Amino acid sequence: MSLRQVDEEIDVIIKKELKRQQDNLELVASENYVSKAVLEAQGSVLTNKYAEGYPRRRYYGGCEHVDAAETLAIERAKKLFGAAYANVQPHSGSSANMAAYRVLLRPEDKVMGMALDHGGHLTHGHPLSFSGIDYRFVPYHVSRDTEMIDYDELRKLALSQRPRLIVAGASSYSREIDFRRIGEIARESGALFMVDMAHIAGLVAAGLHQNPLPYADIVTSTTHKTLRGPRGGLILTNSSDLIAKINRIVFPGLQGGPLMHVIAAKAVCFKEALSDGFRDYQRQVVNNARALSVALAALGYHVVAGGTDTHLFTVNVKKTLGITGSKAEEVLDAVGITCNKNAVPFDDEKPLHTSGIRLGTPAVTTRGFKEDDMKEIARIIDLALKRRDDEDFLRQLRAETLKLSAKYPIYED
Ligand SMILES: Cc1ncc(COP(=O)(O)O)c(C=O)c1O
Repeated sequence: MSLRQVDEEIDVIIKKELKRQQDNLELVASENYVSKAVLEAQGSVLTNKYAEGYPRRRYYGGCEHVDAAETLAIERAKKLFGAAYANVQPHSGSSANMAAYRVLLRPEDKVMGMALDHGGHLTHGHPLSFSGIDYRFVPYHVSRDTEMIDYDELRKLALSQRPRLIVAGASSYSREIDFRRIGEIARESGALFMVDMAHIAGLVAAGLHQNPLPYADIVTSTTHKTLRGPRGGLILTNSSDLIAKINRIVFPGLQGGPLMHVIAAKAVCFKEALSDGFRDYQRQVVNNARALSVALAALGYHVVAGGTDTHLFTVNVKKTLGITGSKAEEVLDAVGITCNKNAVPFDDEKPLHTSGIRLGTPAVTTRGFKEDDMKEIARIIDLALKRRDDEDFLRQLRAETLKLSAKYPIYED
């Protein structure tokens, strides 16, 4: 029986969400539209299979086909990122980070990570996250002037704090991160070095961002976001000693049965990411982010760190227009532009309000948007935010965003 016949309520919800994804301009930097091939693998019968363990070392019979899928995923991940070893089983980016910390740290160990309001992620030491509860995080910051990572401060902090681990990687940092330099600082200060490249994995795969593998002890990632795969996690390393520990911590340490349908979809995503077309796509993602940030800056918006080298950037709407990030998010939602409120460096607003919004181009670029469309989106964002109290005008802008999304249809059939 079809989903519609079994559960009409869920069927309707999925159809409504599909329409939302088709109609809105998706600028949430961590989202994307996966290919039909990824959807097909993830929606396959592999979801039925229990396969605790690793290929050829399982605790269940009948694993010959899922073994082949996981082996393909591992081999492709290694090739894509130039890594000696990969574990493709983490259910999410957060669980990949938890596994990496368990391998590298003991409870209460001191860790340096990027401050959350400066671009870091919850799992880099937020007090409500397991990371901030289990370990003692000391944040490093961007410079007040440039809003870019202050590597000299980072080095000074590392030499005075002597952490056991330095974590690099971010959720809302628009500039290229110098992994080589942070790796050197880690070695100089006697720390281990981990990179969480969740946001930029697609750019790294395409050779458009420094690859952390030569410098880090462990690299974690998500397989969604710029990499455009299924929602999931990934751990890479060049150390045979560390991969043995990682494999034991992921299973049986933290997880039970791997999600074999998701692992098969990860394999598909890695195959897609190894193609020339994927490199072209990533180049366009960065060009589009640049075009959007330049257009907004020209309209007078404060773009944090003065621009972007990646797929995303944040805009300080409070400094520009005197409104909070949450207000800007709400107004843009009303005209069919989806983004998220986001803290900016040295933010004095609460996390539920913030002073900024984060904008990213992976999803609209998948649809086919180019630089000229970015200028158009910047114009609509600007008009919406400036005339935010004029409901009739916002309705007109909504019609314009619908026209733009209709120009680049997605998931038509
Ligand atoms: C840098 C970074 N690491 C980890 C994660 C967590 O990934 P997940 O949502 O799959 O747990 C995110 C998600 O936004 C992220 O931005």
